[in-house]
Amino acid sequence: MSKAFEKFDLTGKTALITGAAGLLGIEHAAALLESGASVVLTDIGEADLSSASKTLAQNADPARILARVMDVSALDAIRAVAKELATDGRRIDILVNNAAIDPKVKGDQGVLETSRLENFSLDQWQLQVTVGLTGAFLCSQVFGSAMAQDGKGGIILNIASDLSVFAPDQRLYRKEGLADEMQPVKPVTYSVIKAGLVGLTRYLATYWADRGVRANALSPGGVFNGQGEGFVRRLTSLIPLGRMASRDEYRAAVQFLCSDASAYLNGQNIVMDGGRSVW
Ligand SMILES: NC(=O)c1ccc[n+]([C@@H]2O[C@H](COP(=O)([O-])OP(=O)(O)OC[C@H]3O[C@@H](n4cnc5c(N)ncnc54)[C@H](O)[C@@H]3O)[C@@H](O)[C@H]2O)c1
Repeated sequence: MSKAFEKFDLTGKTALITGAAGLLGIEHAAALLESGASVVLTDIGEADLSSASKTLAQNADPARILARVMDVSALDAIRAVAKELATDGRRIDILVNNAAIDPKVKGDQGVLETSRLENFSLDQWQLQVTVGLTGAFLCSQVFGSAMAQDGKGGIILNIASDLSVFAPDQRLYRKEGLADEMQPVKPVTYSVIKAGLVGLTRYLATYWADRGVRANALSPGGVFNGQGEGFVRRLTSLIPLGRMASRDEYRAAVQFLCSDASAYLNGQNIVMDGGRSVW
């Protein structure tokens, strides 16, 4: 390894990623594997986890990949995974809080548009906040406490969003031919959860700083994943780089944020959005 990359080396470290079977979770895991870490993939579905493990094992030693079903909203489940790992002598050095429920913005003729603030249900609010925000708190509580306790420190990376720093532009989600009150929107939960994660990041960054636990947030902009042409055109016109991100473009940032390369970075929200937030 060239000297320039020595601080990125994660050989001997273990990273636990929540929501690891999703679009970006698997990329975070690939990034950390590439840097030499072992990974614990966690998510709610056994089948998705198994397929994510297989995909990752194509480019990494399968012995460095472990998968466990873990619902981030269930403290007992998190504690059970933590206990099992500790019993096996596996220390979690890096925690990536990535799990979220982001219902895709739809909009159908004649159907009550439940994404709109006026109609947004308390059930959806509670579910999404519980997974996206409370889940990050619970995982940080369990794994972060362990990092702080044994004095070896660790890293917590919260995956927020460019919508942690500005409000959604609801014009992006408009559907032709729908009345205003039927137009779908990015739900209120998204803004609240992502801004909340930045607050959690700052809190954690100071709380265990004397124990060597650092916390930062990564705020990605939208990843191209087959979205409709109109949406992509409207969104990319707001991005100075003129395009959405590809799914693997956050890997290097994850490698930086989860390694000694970022040893003096703490409590920050790294907004990686093609420049959208500065325009
Ligand atoms: N994709 C994007 O364009 C984008 C942009 C900015 C931020 N983000 C953020 O990045 C993160 C990952 O997004 P993604 O696009 O991969 O989403 P995704 O929906 O593909 O993945 C989210 C994963 O979280 C899991 N999950 C849901 N409920 C869970 C629970 N209770 N416990 C554990 N896991 C649970 C899902 O099963 C899924 O695998 C999210 O926090 C998202 O808000 C994504």
